[in-house]
Amino acid sequence: MRVLTGIQPSGKLHIGNYFGAIKPMLELQESSDLFIFIANYHALSSLHDGETLKQNSLDAAIAFLSLGIDPERSTFWLQSDVKEVLELYWILSAFTPVGMLERAHSYKDKIAKGLSPNHALFAYPVLMAADILLYDANLVPVGKDQKQHIEITRDITLKFNNNYGEILTLPEFKIDEELATIPGIDGAKMSKSYNNTIEIFTTPKALKKRCGKIVTDSTPLEEPKDYRNCNVFALYKLFANEDEIEEMKQRYQSGKEGYGHFKVSLSEKIWEFFAEANERRSYYEAHIDEVKDILSEGAKKARAVAKEKMEIIRDKVGILEERR
Ligand code: ADP
Ligand code: TRP
Repeated sequence: MRVLTGIQPSGKLHIGNYFGAIKPMLELQESSDLFIFIANYHALSSLHDGETLKQNSLDAAIAFLSLGIDPERSTFWLQSDVKEVLELYWILSAFTPVGMLERAHSYKDKIAKGLSPNHALFAYPVLMAADILLYDANLVPVGKDQKQHIEITRDITLKFNNNYGEILTLPEFKIDEELATIPGIDGAKMSKSYNNTIEIFTTPKALKKRCGKIVTDSTPLEEPKDYRNCNVFALYKLFANEDEIEEMKQRYQSGKEGYGHFKVSLSEKIWEFFAEANERRSYYEAHIDEVKDILSEGAKKARAVAKEKMEIIRDKVGILEERR
């Protein structure tokens, strides 16, 4: 079973990303043939600063390696290192009705937010289809916002196969409806667009300060507190084991401590949880050539699959191979 997913190299990762996307990905790495890449061509549709795009791409690679993507186990590469994806993108665009792209929510949302409606933004789902179909992915785990894109991929696949026979693998998507939405420091969904995140890669001091900003009610220190509706407790639960959770409940009920104490305990727990990842990140930042080597090795593995697939596809659609 080949599972494939792409990562947008955008901004700093937060603990909502970790529990909503990264942790499930790490679990899949244990049980399947995971193909995972940094979607830098996709990022170009809305990021037009070359240095920033380069930096974001490497930052994303470092972050995912630090959090546990294992290049020995999984195929991990930079999308742009396998150029075949652009060729397939063009071929697939010949099977993509314009109306389908016009109906894409993600495109409409981006335009509504004020992004300029460039063609890459419009054609974004076709490049995603190429990402998926080039590697014969069986399963694509994505967040809810990407569901329609995978439906578009499935549509394109059926249109292509209808014409040429069963050449492309029809992918399934996997959307984990059960995954909890992690709250931010204001209690709303944690999201970089709401400025309410707690970042994964940080320092103990900054983390403590950030946790100090979590919104709570104003129950005085000496009164028992309700852990059920508390953002601090909701976050603490993600990082603590059963015993620690019980102990925290007692502390809430005892009326001996205030929210400030709980926030400190939370920040210590988060720091402990990501301490190793933070260390690995510092290591990779100081050894950036190692990161580039890992990506090159990943691209080699991905390219081998892509080359074989493209030969079949070119032949079917009638693109002559170079004559020697
Ligand atoms: P953001 O909302 O910060 O822009 P993204 O849209 O880039 O985050 O999300 C990347 C991945 O992380 C998606 O798979 C998304 O479902 C997951 N994710 C983001 N925020 C949360 C959250 N608060 N709770 C659970 N999962 C989240
Ligand atoms: N569009 C996806 C996102 O924003 C990233 C992505 C690009 C992707 N190509 C993909 C995800 C192929 C799954 C499969 O999160």
